[in-house]
Amino acid sequence: MKTLNTDTAAARAPSRERLNTLDTLDVIPTGAALGAEIRGLDLSRPVPEDVKEALRKAWADHMVLLFRGQHIDDEQLLATSRIFGPPHEAAARKYYLDVGAKIDNAHTLSRHPSVSIIANVDEHGNPVRENSGLGSLEVVWHSDNSYVEVPPAGSMLYSLEVPVNGGGDTSFNNQYLAYEELPEEIKRAIEGKYQVHDATRNSAGVLRPGVKLPTRPEEVPGPKHPLVRVHPVTGRRALYLGRRRVWPSNYIIGLPNDESEALLDKLWAHATQPKYAWTHIWRVGEIVLWDNRCCMHYRTEIDPTQRRIMHRTTIKGEPVVAPW
Ligand code: SIN
Repeated sequence: MKTLNTDTAAARAPSRERLNTLDTLDVIPTGAALGAEIRGLDLSRPVPEDVKEALRKAWADHMVLLFRGQHIDDEQLLATSRIFGPPHEAAARKYYLDVGAKIDNAHTLSRHPSVSIIANVDEHGNPVRENSGLGSLEVVWHSDNSYVEVPPAGSMLYSLEVPVNGGGDTSFNNQYLAYEELPEEIKRAIEGKYQVHDATRNSAGVLRPGVKLPTRPEEVPGPKHPLVRVHPVTGRRALYLGRRRVWPSNYIIGLPNDESEALLDKLWAHATQPKYAWTHIWRVGEIVLWDNRCCMHYRTEIDPTQRRIMHRTTIKGEPVVAPW
């Protein structure tokens, strides 16, 4: 996986007075299979419509956008997220509310339904290995909320506290390219096929609050989505694998379970090759926006003795459309 050359962004940045215009906006591709850094923006200030339009185009072109050196609150994060679409209520939130979790705005639940707190801390703010969310655990490749009927188009993650050399690096991969480079026989094998997307466990493998662990595929709850989807903005086809936990989890409808598992093994091995990916190593005050319709993401484990606090918004999506 490639990592963007961090360069001397601060040295190159224009003065604050001249930020947020088309003249100061710079879109710098990572050089990997996806992703670009956006420079020349201060997201605590108003962003004019022509700049918003340019950002939406950059998102469609690069799938993942990185903004460094930002100092914003949740309202400003939501306003930035709205540039790319209306808010989506994070799907995991209802599981917490259903078991009586309290809104605390700091460690677990934000008062904004579309802002999720992604933090490796307990209710007192102490760093821990496991909590009811992702904790400090490795987060497997997935696209957000594929376990709901209409998954979010995108997600935006903002770093408030990050460990020093303590992991929690986030990688993204290009699922247009993964689809385009599939061997012809696999393209034929998945044509017209749909998958059930397992809603029981999060991408760190933690059972969602109040949910029963399935013991066979028929017990796996979740919507069905096509294995290939058409991106509503670019019109391009992308592989859409969602997430896969320990069996029984996602399965392909209409295949005997062993065939479904074998085909999913091949698809996951292909889709998660390092050549399709780019990795971001976080510093405080960074925002990364990704497109759940054409990328997946992955996070390395975090040193459980160090706090990592991120706020994440999700952006409303469209029904998943198959190319067939
Ligand atoms: C996520 O899967 O949305 C979280 C990624 C991260 O914590 O880096």
